[in-house]
Amino acid sequence: MTMKTLVFGAGFVGTRLARDLSGATLSRADITDRAAVRDELARHAPDAVVNAAGKTGKPNVDWCETHQHETYRANVNGALTLADACGERGVYLLHLGSGCIFYGDSPAEGGWREDDYANPSAFYSRTKYAADLVLSRLPNVGVARLRMPIDDSPSPRNLITKLAAYPSVVDVENSVTVVADLVAAVAGLCERRAAGVFHVTNPGTMRHRDLLALYTELVDPSHRYELITAEDLVARGLAAKARSNCVLSSERLAAAGVTMRPIDVALRDAMERYARAARA
Ligand SMILES: NC(=O)c1ccc[n+]([C@@H]2O[C@H](COP(=O)([O-])OP(=O)(O)OC[C@H]3O[C@@H](n4cnc5c(N)ncnc54)[C@H](OP(=O)(O)O)[C@@H]3O)[C@@H](O)[C@H]2O)c1
Repeated sequence: MTMKTLVFGAGFVGTRLARDLSGATLSRADITDRAAVRDELARHAPDAVVNAAGKTGKPNVDWCETHQHETYRANVNGALTLADACGERGVYLLHLGSGCIFYGDSPAEGGWREDDYANPSAFYSRTKYAADLVLSRLPNVGVARLRMPIDDSPSPRNLITKLAAYPSVVDVENSVTVVADLVAAVAGLCERRAAGVFHVTNPGTMRHRDLLALYTELVDPSHRYELITAEDLVARGLAAKARSNCVLSSERLAAAGVTMRPIDVALRDAMERYARAARA
């Protein structure tokens, strides 16, 4: 029987999950409003809830530095309110966390592990980690940490669209999440009611220049940009706060029996679809 999943958060990822997860419904309720959340759970009686709601900052996370109250209310208070309401009804909750709570090299080979202590710098990252610290210990709650979503159609939130718009791009290596694989991983985690933290990133790593090389090959052969260092990004005033660049280990996801395609395969597939969508 198809699972009934209620997705909170009508943004980039939430809308995509509600569209592509079978048996999913999108809720636009305010997750900081306990009564509204309870009503939604009573009305839909879902088997699982996905929290894709939160403040991510517009046009980017620098917004969260100057809107701290709005940011922690949604990302911390809202996440815990939703967990509380799901707990009351015994409904599984999968919260979307972020891998952008880790900065720099992991303490051990193989990338940052799910239970490594994070070192968030930006206020957005601090709120994401604050919620994780509690949610990761609750029964019947999973935390799916994603990174820099790559989708197969143009959108200001899609890493392909973002990088293609920058004349200067940092030359860094990262773990990233292809959205098509995220949808399948979210379904897999909900079916298993998997508790604890999972790094939902495609196996392998990607440099921004790898993505742009594919973009030039498949989407726009005339595309030009310059590579800069992560330090240049702040020094040149292109970002207020340093961005997280990191490699994650996703062993817990694989151990739970949920697989994602290697990044080179998934990235090429996403870029081919992106090229078709851009031409349409
Ligand atoms: N995209 C990424 O790079 C990325 C990477 C890692 C993790 N994540 C996580 O994935 C989740 C979804 O991200 P996204 O990219 O889809 O971000 P998004 O496009 O900004 O979507 C988040 C949505 O949540 C809404 N929202 C904010 N506060 C809310 C509240 N109190 N109650 C209900 N909805 C609320 C936002 O509305 P407003 O726009 O009106 O505030 C927005 O529609 C977030 O938790 C984010 O931290 C995203």
